[in-house]
Amino acid sequence: MVWSQAHTNIALIKYWGKALSKQNIPATDSISLTLDSFWTRARAEASTGIDKVVVHGEELNPVEEKRVLDWLQAARSVLTLPNAIVLETWNNVPKAAGLASSASAFAAMATALARVSLGYDPRFNSKEDAIKEIARLGSGSALRSLQASFVRLRRHGSENVAIEKIDTPLEDEIRVIALLLDTKAKKIGSREGMKRVAESSAFYEAWLSEHPTDVENCQEALEKGDWHRVGALMESSTLKMHATCMAATPPFWYFQPDSIKIMNWVTEARLKQKGLSTYFTMDAGANVKIFCLARDLKETGDALQEIVPNAKIQIASKGPKPHEEKG
Ligand code: DP6
Repeated sequence: MVWSQAHTNIALIKYWGKALSKQNIPATDSISLTLDSFWTRARAEASTGIDKVVVHGEELNPVEEKRVLDWLQAARSVLTLPNAIVLETWNNVPKAAGLASSASAFAAMATALARVSLGYDPRFNSKEDAIKEIARLGSGSALRSLQASFVRLRRHGSENVAIEKIDTPLEDEIRVIALLLDTKAKKIGSREGMKRVAESSAFYEAWLSEHPTDVENCQEALEKGDWHRVGALMESSTLKMHATCMAATPPFWYFQPDSIKIMNWVTEARLKQKGLSTYFTMDAGANVKIFCLARDLKETGDALQEIVPNAKIQIASKGPKPHEEKG
């Protein structure tokens, strides 16, 4: 059996807010790292019945199923697809763990659909562009999972986006420690969070106005191999994003006590140990992701395991673009 496998990505400079021009176009550029350890496999097959989504490992609730079936319907305006499809996915990413499972899922499903399509709408220049379009309709961050390693999502005008690989001498040196915290916190999904922020946050305009500079600075620092500058920009983009949430009506936040404990440790550890390459980021969930250079991985991982003993720790490095896997 041939699967389309796509990997998750974690944003260093965040996508948080949508343009009003067209469905699900990010309001800003963003920069991410695609990871090797977390991925989704997807497979599409023509069937005789109605569209169906089968998720191995984790059940789809009716709300999630509707999101995927509606998206599949939208994909038909981009790709020439069989009348009925069974879409099967297998995820090694803990769902809703702030590890961008929707990014790898929609990137994998878009790639799998392209494999069973008979063609694409002439609006698109290539099959790759058609895949990009349907991945975007599923999830903005899924676009970045279509590329390997460090990626910039670049807006072109208000209706188009491009996905560009950022070449950096740091590529092989970066490690990510994902800390899965033991939390039952109620989740506000990123889509809902972005909407509330755009509609009501006092800080949303400030977020949008500072963002382009953060993106340019981060790309420049990556290209020059200036990791400390990249790390500082990642933490700053993270905290600015979360500040927009706290200034929304009603306010909301993703921090839990253990998230704060970890971020405090990272900040203090850098002050104590000059040159420590450890930096944090968080997305729309309580889990914290730590980025560091390979040389500091062991020390950072050991210290964090002591600080949050109940956290499950997973390590990742740069990951590939979507590819085929047999299984
Ligand atoms: C906080 O891609 O999940 O992870 O386009 O509405 O599906 P939709 O949003 P999504 O948003 C990701 C938000 C984020 C930051 C990021 O990954 O850039």
